[in-house]
Amino acid sequence: MSKKMTRRTFLKAAGVFTAAAAVPMGLVEVARGQKPGEKFTFAYISDAHITQIKGSEFVRNFDNGLKKAVLEVNFMDPQPDFVVFGGDLAQIGKKEEFEHGLEIMKDLTVPVKWVMGEHDYYLDLGKYWQEKMSPLYYSFDHKGIHFVVLNSILTDDDWTYKRWPTPEERMLQMARLDNPNGSPFMVKDEQRAWLKKDLAKVKQEAPIIVLSHSPLYKIFKPWNFWTDDAEQVQAILKPYMNVEILHGHVHQVLYNQIGNLTFNAFMATAWPWPYVTTYSQLPNKMPALTVPMNRADPFKERDGTGWGHIQLPTGIVHHYELWENQPRTVRKAPGMKQPEDTQYQDPAKRIPPQKHY
Ligand SMILES: [Fe+2]
Ligand SMILES: [Fe+2]
Repeated sequence: MSKKMTRRTFLKAAGVFTAAAAVPMGLVEVARGQKPGEKFTFAYISDAHITQIKGSEFVRNFDNGLKKAVLEVNFMDPQPDFVVFGGDLAQIGKKEEFEHGLEIMKDLTVPVKWVMGEHDYYLDLGKYWQEKMSPLYYSFDHKGIHFVVLNSILTDDDWTYKRWPTPEERMLQMARLDNPNGSPFMVKDEQRAWLKKDLAKVKQEAPIIVLSHSPLYKIFKPWNFWTDDAEQVQAILKPYMNVEILHGHVHQVLYNQIGNLTFNAFMATAWPWPYVTTYSQLPNKMPALTVPMNRADPFKERDGTGWGHIQLPTGIVHHYELWENQPRTVRKAPGMKQPEDTQYQDPAKRIPPQKHY
């Protein structure tokens, strides 16, 4: 960890005091509530990918990432109001994985708001999730903020219901990267209609936080860092002046600005993904509107895992505290058009990505 900002000073900055080990989770501080000066925090844990080996044997690294994140939340003083779980609790959506993941999550001292990931969905199409966790999409209000949880990992009915001989096969196809048999994620008509209706009761200047698993924009299709009807979802959100979109799925430092919509990714408790540009052999589909990103070495082993702390009181400041790399601060101050890395956004200061594979 860097000398500039040890985890202890980071936690102090976050108003949190604990002596536990560095773990992957995020903390969001919100000060846009109805009452002046009212602040609250919520924590964010994502992409645990609990994986069964056989019987009661699970991949320990992934278990430990989630366990540590849960511990960290419990150590926080004051306690966050709730935890958002950003999706991919399971690896291949098995009941055993969910049960094991829930066993770890049940130690949390605060309630959980669940967002579903594709690894949770494509085996039983959300059956277990709806029984034990939450509806597939929903909204709620908390201290003056309207929260919307979207299920952004749906796809064509044809692909979902007709293409695969077994649910297991369907899950394996959706869980792979660079898979020509995969299918792009979508929010789909029914949910977009619901979103429109849900937001109709919200004032245009009201603060809204949208929680999705995949980014609600298009980065790279072969990895499903992509939501196919993103533009249509963005159009529904466009009339609202204070929208932040927080997501998981990409297991890396990622941020973007499209029109008035700001996007921030949280990291994973399981493993990091490299940046698309450093890995894929397929052409990179980075759209023009994506804010160029940088991290010193985009493939430090644990670079997609670490701490995140977002402050939403004045603009958006996202501190990324990486385990084996320089901390990053991504900031969008009032009046700024897009979030920017405070140190490395200038192309002249960027360190070329390290090539892998
Ligand atoms: Fe994931
Ligand atoms: Fe995912």
